[in-house]
Amino acid sequence: MIKVGIVGGTGYTGVELLRLLAQHPQAEVAVITSRSESGVAVADMYPNLRGHYDGLKFSVPDSKTLGACDVVFFATPHGVAHALAGELLGAGTKVIDLSADFRLQDAAEWSKWYGQPHGAPDLLPDAVYGLPEVNREKIRQARLIAVPGCYPTATQLGFLPLLEAGIADPLRLIADCKSGVSGAGRGAAVGSLFSEAGENMKAYGVKGHRHLPEISQGLRRAAGGEIGLTFVPHLTPMIRGIHSTLYANVVDTSVDLQALFEKRYADEPFVDVMPAGSHPETRSVRGANVCRIAVHRPQGGDLVVVLSVIDNLVKGASGQAVQNLNIVFGLDERMGLNHAGLLP
Ligand SMILES: NC(=O)c1ccc[n+]([C@@H]2O[C@H](COP(=O)([O-])OP(=O)(O)OC[C@H]3O[C@@H](n4cnc5c(N)ncnc54)[C@H](OP(=O)(O)O)[C@@H]3O)[C@@H](O)[C@H]2O)c1
Repeated sequence: MIKVGIVGGTGYTGVELLRLLAQHPQAEVAVITSRSESGVAVADMYPNLRGHYDGLKFSVPDSKTLGACDVVFFATPHGVAHALAGELLGAGTKVIDLSADFRLQDAAEWSKWYGQPHGAPDLLPDAVYGLPEVNREKIRQARLIAVPGCYPTATQLGFLPLLEAGIADPLRLIADCKSGVSGAGRGAAVGSLFSEAGENMKAYGVKGHRHLPEISQGLRRAAGGEIGLTFVPHLTPMIRGIHSTLYANVVDTSVDLQALFEKRYADEPFVDVMPAGSHPETRSVRGANVCRIAVHRPQGGDLVVVLSVIDNLVKGASGQAVQNLNIVFGLDERMGLNHAGLLP
C-alpha cells in the first residue's frame, strides 16, 4: 500500500481527495493535517466519510510524520508547499501539490501574480506540470508534481489539438469560462454566500486573473511560440463545474476538426471527445475525473468554438492529483477514478 499524507484536509480539495482515495485499492491515508481542527475525527467533520476512515484524525503538520509517507498531497493555499516541500523531498517523499506554488516555471512571474517572493525557486527545475495529456512521461519520473488549476485544465485541453497542429491563429485566442462557487474554496467570503452567488452571474478578474500566466505558459508550449489570450472567468450559481467556451480562428478551413480532436485524445482515458454537434454539460462530469469536449465551426466559417467541461474539484484538482499519483507509482492510471459522473 502507498502511504499517503495530506496537508490541508479541511478545504474542498482535501475532502475530495479523501473521497476519491477511500475507493483507491493501493493507497492508504496515514496522515491528514489541519491546524484548526487538530484532534477532530475526519468522519465527525465530513459525515459522507463515515465508515471509510475510522480512527483517522486531523493533526498539526509535522514534517517528520509527513516525511514517513511515500507521497504527500498539498491541498493548501499558495505558499504552504513552498515552505515544506524541500524537507519532504529530502526525506525521499514524493510531493503532489494542488496549489499554484510550482505551476509557473518563472519565479519572477509567480511573484508578480501572487504578490510575494517565490518561496522555493531552487525546486523549480524538479517541478513537473501534472497535466498527463501533455507530460505523462515526465510525470512518471517526477518527485515534485504541480497539479494544474481548474480553469487551466479545461482551457488547455480544449485549445491543445488546434495549437499543436498549428491550425489556429495563436495570437487571437479567447477563453470565456464559467466556474461553480466551490472553485473559490471553503473559506468564508461574502461573494460566496448563497444570497450573493445564487440567482446571479458575474465576470471577474477581466484585467488579469492568476490562472492567465499558467494557461499562457501551457499554450506557448503547445504552439511552439508566442500566444495572445483573452481569458474572462465568470462565477455562476452552481456548486461544482467549469465550462470553458473557447474561440480561435483557423488558418486552414479544410481540416476535419472532429477527426483532429478524436485522434489527439484517442488514447486518453479521461478526455471524452463528444460526437460532432454536441453540447457537453457540467452535470455530466460532476464527481468524475473527465474532461468532456465538443468542437464546432458555426456556419462553416473560420471561427472554431470548443466547448470543454470539467468538475473543478475532480479533473480540475483532486482527481487529476490522484491520476498523477497513479502515473508516478506505475499503477493503472484509472485506478480509483473510473466512475461515472453524478446525474441528475
Ligand atoms: N477549490 C477548487 O476548485 C480548486 C481547484 C484547483 C486547485 N485549487 C487549489 O487547491 C488548494 C486548496 O484549495 P481549497 O479550496 O481546497 O482549500 P483552501 O481554503 O485553499 O485551504 C484550506 C486548507 O489548507 C490548510 N492550511 C491553510 N493554511 C495553512 C498553512 N499555513 N499551513 C498548513 N495548512 C494550511 C487549512 O487547514 P488549517 O488552516 O486548519 O491548517 C485547510 O485544511 C488552493 O491552493 C487552491 O487554489 C482549488
